[in-house]
Amino acid sequence: MKTIIKKNYQAVSKEAARIIATQIITDPQSVLGLPTGSTPTRTYENLVRLHKVGILDFSQVVTFNLDEYFNLPEDHEQSFHYYMEKRLFLQVNLKEENTYLPDGQASNPQKECRRYENLIQENGGIDLMVLGLGPNGHIGFNEPGTNWDSQTRLIKLTDETKERNFDDLKDAPDRAITMGIKTIMRSRKIILLASGEEKAKALEKTVHGPIAESWPGSILQLHPNITAIAEQEAASDI
Ligand code: GLP
Repeated sequence: MKTIIKKNYQAVSKEAARIIATQIITDPQSVLGLPTGSTPTRTYENLVRLHKVGILDFSQVVTFNLDEYFNLPEDHEQSFHYYMEKRLFLQVNLKEENTYLPDGQASNPQKECRRYENLIQENGGIDLMVLGLGPNGHIGFNEPGTNWDSQTRLIKLTDETKERNFDDLKDAPDRAITMGIKTIMRSRKIILLASGEEKAKALEKTVHGPIAESWPGSILQLHPNITAIAEQEAASDI
């Protein structure tokens, strides 16, 4: 795994936006895989800025988000639909019909997961996947123990993940729909973003640890075209 170490969060975000922008400029019809969370927020800000100054055109870009909470209304402030609209979709010229997230409100989640997986393949697969990293090694919402063969599916969130993402555990959804490990690994290119001291151990296990289902991110060591972009603090153990 190629690793780029940057001095701070701003520099990580700038480098991530540079790689995404290069992808879009090289192939205006790129299919992107996108994460949520606190790590990519500045990257999205940089992309919006590049669009506003006329450098980046999203009119033919297609996006697939990694995951969405199950049974959380789309307009809920913590839904990933809400997050993406606010930070990217409504700020650039992406076409609404080209932005996909799993439907967390689907009455038949199994069917929705199959539909989402098929949609990714029908769009030619993901050209560039952008990933964050959970402190327990999760990528997307593929929690420890996820099968390497997994595709988009409904999963149960760990208490650790719920506590991290929601102030009050009783407000947290129990489940989410996430792309699987296999879905992620099929992407042609991946960038993995890590910032902050709390990710140091997680990044070390991801980059150098044994490849084991108990640490989902470790599978990324087998991807032929992956770059980790880490802030110094997050890279202190590698
Ligand atoms: C979340 C998401 C992941 C994200 C990770 C890290 O729960 N499902 O896609 O990468 O946790 O989040 P953060 O960037 O806030 O540290």
